[in-house]
Amino acid sequence: MAKKVTVVGAGFYGSTTALRLAEYNIFDEVVLTDIVEGKPEGLALDMNQSRSIEGFETKITGATTTAEGAGYEKTANSDVVVITAGLPRKPGMSRMDLIGVNAGIVRGVAENIAKHSPNAVIIVVSNPLDEMTALAQLATNFPKNRVMGQAGMLDTARFTNFVAEKLGVEVGSVKTLTLGSHGDTMVPVPSRCTVNGDPLSEKLSQTEIDELVDRTRNGGAEVVALLKTGSAYYAPSAAAARMAKAVIEDSGAVMPVCAWVDGEYGISGVYLGVEAEIGKSGIRKVVESKLTDGEVASLKAAAEAVRAKQADVKDM
Ligand code: NAI
Ligand code: 2OP
Repeated sequence: MAKKVTVVGAGFYGSTTALRLAEYNIFDEVVLTDIVEGKPEGLALDMNQSRSIEGFETKITGATTTAEGAGYEKTANSDVVVITAGLPRKPGMSRMDLIGVNAGIVRGVAENIAKHSPNAVIIVVSNPLDEMTALAQLATNFPKNRVMGQAGMLDTARFTNFVAEKLGVEVGSVKTLTLGSHGDTMVPVPSRCTVNGDPLSEKLSQTEIDELVDRTRNGGAEVVALLKTGSAYYAPSAAAARMAKAVIEDSGAVMPVCAWVDGEYGISGVYLGVEAEIGKSGIRKVVESKLTDGEVASLKAAAEAVRAKQADVKDM
C-alpha cells in the first residue's frame, strides 16, 4: 500500500516538516498544501529538485487549497495528516492570543481532511496546541486515539538541549521529559531526567534545575523574541516529523505528545501532554509512569487549566 502523508500549511513549520518527511524516504508521497496560490506547488517543485542530491525518492506534491475545500482531492486517502495551518506568535503574544483566528482555520481544515482522508491519523501543531487538538477531534469526529498534538516532543528536546549545554555534555547522554500543556502550565519533570543514567539532581543544584525548567517553559517565547516575525520551526518540525514516522512505521515508540487522557494519573476527559505509545492507529495507549506527588499535582493543575479552554472550542 502506498504510504501518503499530508502537511497542511506551507509556512515555516509546514514546509520544514514536509522536507523532513520526504528525506526520511519512507513515504511514497508527501502532499503540502496552503491557501496562498502557488506557494505549495513552488515549494514542492524546489524540494523535488533536491531529491537526486539528498538521495530520496519520495515525491512531494504541492496543492493550493481554499477554505471551501477546493484542492483537497490531492490529499485524498492520506495515512497521516499534520496540521500546521494558522498564524504564529509575534513578540509579546501568548499562544492563547491566537485562539480566535486559528480555531476558524483549524476547524475548516479538519473538516476537509475528514472528508478526503477518513482513516487518517491527525497530528495537530497549530497553536494554542492543546485547544486546537481538541478542536480537530471535534471537527473530524475521529476516534480520539486518531487525533494527537505535537508539543511534548519539542518541549522535551528544548529541556534536553539546555541541560546538555549547561553541563557541556552530548545531547545523546541526556534524557529529560516535559508533560502538561504547551503553555504556562507546561510540566517539566526533573525526577525523570538523567545524564549518562545518573539523576539530574546529582549534576545540578535545585536552583540550576529550576532555571532550566523556567527556560524550557519559555522556550518558544525566547525564539519568538529573537526572530521577531514568527516562531520556531526547526525543532518543532523535527518533533512532528518523528511522530508521523512512528505512525507510518507502526513503531510503538513512546513519546511525550498531546493525547486524550482517560483515567491516567487520575485525570479524565481532556487532551493533555503525556507519554504515549504511537503506532498506525495513532495513540495505542497512554503510558503512565512514576512521577513525584508534586509532579502529579502539577499535571492535574495543567489538566484543569486546559479543560476549560478546550470546552470553549466547541463553539469556535
Ligand atoms: P507561518 O505563518 O509560517 O505558516 C502558516 C501557514 O498556514 C501560512 O503559509 C498560511 O498561508 C497557511 N494557512 C493559513 N490558513 C490556512 C488554511 N486554511 N489552509 C492551509 N493553509 C493555511 O507559521 P508557522 O511558523 O509555520 O507556524 C504554524 C503554526 O504552528 C502556528 O500556529 C504556530 O503557533 C504553530 N507552532 C506550534 C508549535 C508546537 O510546538 N505545537 C511550535 C511552533 C509553531
Ligand atoms: C513554540 O513553542 C510557538 O509553540 C511555539 O515554539
